[in-house]
Amino acid sequence: MADSDERVLEVKGLVTNFYTYEGTVLALDGVDLFLRRGDTMGVVGETGCGKSVTARSILRLVEPPGRIEEGEILFRQIDPESGEIETVDLLKLSAEEILKTRGGKIAIVFQDPATYPNPVFRIGDQIAEVVLLHQDLSSDVIEMKIEELQDKLTQDVPAEKRSQIEEKIDYYSLMLQEPPPPDDKDAKKAALRRATQMLEMVRMPAPATIATQYPHELSGGMRQRALIAMALACNPAILICDEATTALDVTVQAQVLNLLNQLKKEIGTSIMIITHDMGVVAETCNWVNVMYAGTTVESCATEELFATPLHPYTAGLLTAVPKLHETKDRLPQILGTVPNLITPPTGCRFHPRCEYATSICKTEKPKLEELRPGHWVACFNPLE
Ligand SMILES: Nc1ncnc2c1ncn2[C@@H]1O[C@H](COP(=O)(O)OP(=O)(O)OP(=O)(O)O)[C@@H](O)[C@H]1O
Ligand SMILES: [Mg+2]
Repeated sequence: MADSDERVLEVKGLVTNFYTYEGTVLALDGVDLFLRRGDTMGVVGETGCGKSVTARSILRLVEPPGRIEEGEILFRQIDPESGEIETVDLLKLSAEEILKTRGGKIAIVFQDPATYPNPVFRIGDQIAEVVLLHQDLSSDVIEMKIEELQDKLTQDVPAEKRSQIEEKIDYYSLMLQEPPPPDDKDAKKAALRRATQMLEMVRMPAPATIATQYPHELSGGMRQRALIAMALACNPAILICDEATTALDVTVQAQVLNLLNQLKKEIGTSIMIITHDMGVVAETCNWVNVMYAGTTVESCATEELFATPLHPYTAGLLTAVPKLHETKDRLPQILGTVPNLITPPTGCRFHPRCEYATSICKTEKPKLEELRPGHWVACFNPLE
C-alpha cells in the first residue's frame, strides 16, 4: 500500500488570506499536513498560527473577507464494495457536495461549548436533527454517484472495468430502493432513538433524560460529550476537535480526551485535535503537526517529536512542557513575539526568533522535507 493510501486526509500547500481594511492577512502560507486512518493527530502551535483557519479551510468554512487561494485538500475513502481508494479534492467539490461532506463524513467540534450546542433546543432534538439531515442528503449523494458512474459508462472503458461499474450501479440503485419511513413522525422517532443511543455511547448517565434537557441544564463536561455525540451521529470518517477541551477543567478534559480515544476504536474515526497544549498532545495523540505563523514546521510521531525535535521552534516549545494535570492556557514563551501576518517576516517566518538562523533563512522559505524516516521538518538548520 502506498503511503498516501493510508492518509484519509492530506492537505498540500494550503494558502488562505483575509482581505481586511488594514491589509491582507497572509494567514496560511502553504500548510502541509496529513491524517492517517485510525490516528489521533494533534495540531499544535501558538495563538494565531492558523490552527482554526486550517480546520475551517478543510471544511470550506472560511468566510469573507477570507479566501482559500491555493492548495489541495485530499479526502480519501475506501469504497465499501470494491475496496478501492477514492480520492476527492475538497476544494474542487461543488457547494452542494461539500455540504454533504461536512458533518456527514468530516465532523467538527468547535472551541466554545458555552454557546454551542444551540441553547434553545433540547439536546436530543439537536442530535436527531443532524441524523435526519444527513439521512436525507445521503440519497442525493447516492443519486449523484449513480450519475457519475453512468457517465463513465458512456466513455471508452475496457469490458472488465465496465462490468465492475455496472455492478456498482446496481449496488447503489438497490440502496435507493429501500422504502422510506412511512411518515415523518416515524423518521423523527427513529432519529431520536439514535440520539439517545449516541448519548449512551459517549457514556452519558441517564441518556434518555439528557436527551430531553436543554444545554444550560448540563455541566461543561456533559455539554462537551453532547457535542461529541452530535458530531459522531453520522459516523464521520474524520472528527476535528478545535480546542474542544480547553474551556473545561483538567480532570474533565482528560476524561473527554480518553473517551475520544476509546470511541475512535469503537467506530473507526480518525481524529484531528487542535490544541495549544503539548501535554494534551503527549497524552492523546500518536502523531503531531507543529505550526508556526501559518506554516507547518514539523510533523512526525509524537514520541519521536518529544525525543528528537528537529525544528528550533519545536525545541523551544518542548523546553517547558506543562505536566498533564497542570492548567496552562498558553504555550511557554519563546523569545520574541508572534509575527504580524499582514507583514510577515521574509524567508522562514520563524527566522527573527531563531537562534540558529543564517542568511538563507531570511530570503528563502524552507520546504517541509522528510529528514528522517517518518519525520518531516521545514528548516535550513535542523537540530540534532
Ligand atoms: N476573520 C478574520 N479576519 C482577519 N484575520 C483573521 C480572521 N480569522 C483569522 N484571522 C487571522 O488568521 C490568523 C490565524 O488565525 P487562527 O484563528 O487560525 O489562529 P489559531 O492558531 O486558531 O489561534 P488560537 O490558538 O488563538 O485559536 C491570525 O493571524 C488571525 O488574526
Ligand atoms: Mg483557534
